[in-house]
Amino acid sequence: MQRRDFLNDLAMYSALCTGLPSAWRVTARPRVAGDPFMLGVASGDPTPTGAVIWTRLAPSPLEPDGGMDRQRTVVSWEVAEDEQFGRVVRQGRATAAPELGYSIHADVDGLASDRWYFYRFTVQNGSSPVGRLRTAPAPGAMTSLAFGFVSCQHWEQGYYTAYDHLAREDRLDLITHLGDYIYESTGVDGRPRKYSSREVLTLDDYRSRYAQTKTDPLLQAAHARAPWIVTWDDHEVDNNYADLIGENEMESEDQMRVRRAAGYQAWWEHQPVRVPRVRNWGDLNITRRVEWGGLTSFHVLDTRQHRSDQPCGDRGQPVPCGDWGDPTHTMMGARQEKWLDDGMAASRARWQVLANQVRVMPFDDNPGPERQYYMDSWAGYPAAIDRLMKTIGQRAPNRTVVLTGDIHSNWVNTLHTRYDRPDAPTIAAEFVGTSISSGGDGADAFGSWNDLTRAANPQCIWHNGRRGYVMCAVDADEWRTTYRTVPYVSRLGAPVETPAEFVLRHGRPGVNKVS
Ligand SMILES: [Fe+2]
Repeated sequence: MQRRDFLNDLAMYSALCTGLPSAWRVTARPRVAGDPFMLGVASGDPTPTGAVIWTRLAPSPLEPDGGMDRQRTVVSWEVAEDEQFGRVVRQGRATAAPELGYSIHADVDGLASDRWYFYRFTVQNGSSPVGRLRTAPAPGAMTSLAFGFVSCQHWEQGYYTAYDHLAREDRLDLITHLGDYIYESTGVDGRPRKYSSREVLTLDDYRSRYAQTKTDPLLQAAHARAPWIVTWDDHEVDNNYADLIGENEMESEDQMRVRRAAGYQAWWEHQPVRVPRVRNWGDLNITRRVEWGGLTSFHVLDTRQHRSDQPCGDRGQPVPCGDWGDPTHTMMGARQEKWLDDGMAASRARWQVLANQVRVMPFDDNPGPERQYYMDSWAGYPAAIDRLMKTIGQRAPNRTVVLTGDIHSNWVNTLHTRYDRPDAPTIAAEFVGTSISSGGDGADAFGSWNDLTRAANPQCIWHNGRRGYVMCAVDADEWRTTYRTVPYVSRLGAPVETPAEFVLRHGRPGVNKVS
């Protein structure tokens, strides 16, 4: 018997039966004060026949158990062809349990490829909001794709206006989130909003941080609009952590091991993802591929869990320094590097997309002849960039696109066979997307960036310091990237602007700025 069937049967049995110990009793009508669907719904990781649909019961989102008071609850779900649920094509039930934060992940299968569906969850107290999901095209199909990518949504530092505009885009098949969905830091006064707790460390802390973030109606609308592909960066656990090394040097590896397990479990509980089960949450493997017919293959990376410690501190450093050039240093770990290289070698998709966290293009912060790099980015790991450039150059030159977050600003870069030689052949484009809200209002550009770009970073084609998101429209021959920004996030209601647009041609080097 599949475990899921067991839980369903248990739900049916125990709803009828009073002989079970109360800890195992499952109810279809939890006694809760208020709406159990306060955190909305989400879908993700689409396949040609389905997607994961998600919700979490939390009538009191900021309480440690979300206000569920230990009540195991049977939740039914439906997927329909129409928004009124007149034509339901799939349905099922699952149990929301305290061990997993009352989260539900239903991996829906048996749908038709390349089409939109509607989904919702129900307990006897009521139904969730309705979400929309879209299945991927059939293997090999060349259906075009329009997707948005986002990162870095510090709750305190600004409103999620960018999500409002993203959810209203005319065409939006997917949303990719590149990490920093939550920030772990203590709530601070004097900002547009405030985190409700001190720095998050335990599973209950992380759950309540996700729950507070997920109460945002604009974020919920973006989740309900289309399926997401989610990865994580550092702040889902701890600023600039590397493997088991935390930001605070007083934190032991044992502490980080437990903290990482808590952060990873809470991430899983709150995201519509399909990742393999593990014995220990601290080892959760989130690398995976999402295929969009024969058009694009998304390789979802994890550059936190397996990386070597930053070589000379986490910040900007003149190089060479310390063990910066150590050839054994890694961003992804040997297994993930091989997984990526094998996957790109085997893929028949026209475009290879890396859903990546930190900037790959080594940006030199020193306008003079010396070089200075930011050690938390790929530039802190030159041997790892070399290996990545080899993979891209051998497997998919000029049809690989790297999507990046982390630095709360927009950048367009070319990547080259030699990472430190902008005159070497171009093999890929890197689009760095700004934050949703992190860093506050931002500015169009900073004068020092212009000087640095001209003097020391000819691989950088464009930059901008506003908040927002990035849209990509892809077909077999052309990739079009459109930057969307908002002039402020310190209050609601900002309009959306389009500061620049870029085009790539399949198989041809370089990025063209078209507006
Ligand atoms: Fe960030």
